[in-house]
Amino acid sequence: MDKIKILFVCLGNICRSPLAKGIFINEVNQYNLEHLFEVDAAGTSAYHVGCLPDSRAVKVAAKYGIGLTQLARQLADKDFEYYDYILVMDHRNYEDVTSLIKNKTKLKRIFLLRSFDCLANNNFNVPDPFYGLDADFEEVFAICQRSLQGFIGFLANQGLIKLPVNLA
Ligand code: 4NP
Repeated sequence: MDKIKILFVCLGNICRSPLAKGIFINEVNQYNLEHLFEVDAAGTSAYHVGCLPDSRAVKVAAKYGIGLTQLARQLADKDFEYYDYILVMDHRNYEDVTSLIKNKTKLKRIFLLRSFDCLANNNFNVPDPFYGLDADFEEVFAICQRSLQGFIGFLANQGLIKLPVNLA
């Protein structure tokens, strides 16, 4: 079976999208479903290409047992053909990404990650923590985790993955 290919996208590819990628892998690992996915992260900008994730993102991820090691890369045209789902962090990313897509039939692959957050309350942005504090990275972690749990539920509802039955 083909893997489900998912790309997380933010502006710099050093804070939110590497965190979302790490959290997603950690979440599906808990269901032993990691073999079903190919996951990557990219930035709309080239600001930090080749850099490791921001040390504050690394620190909050490590607190939850998640290692972040990917080097930043910029979103490329071929990503729109390759990935089944492109999950962006905020409306600015959404505008940037959708304006780059030449083949408009691929638009339906683009989602705001936070549209899967059960507590989003009509705010569908994962806030940019770059100019923030450790607490902002904690908040981003929690938002991404809730959103990714929602996204995994969405994949299960679509019949694309099967989650273990909760007998509790
Ligand atoms: P990210 O955060 O998009 O979540 O990786 C940012 C990283 C760098 C910058 C902005 C946001 N920057 O302006 O350099």
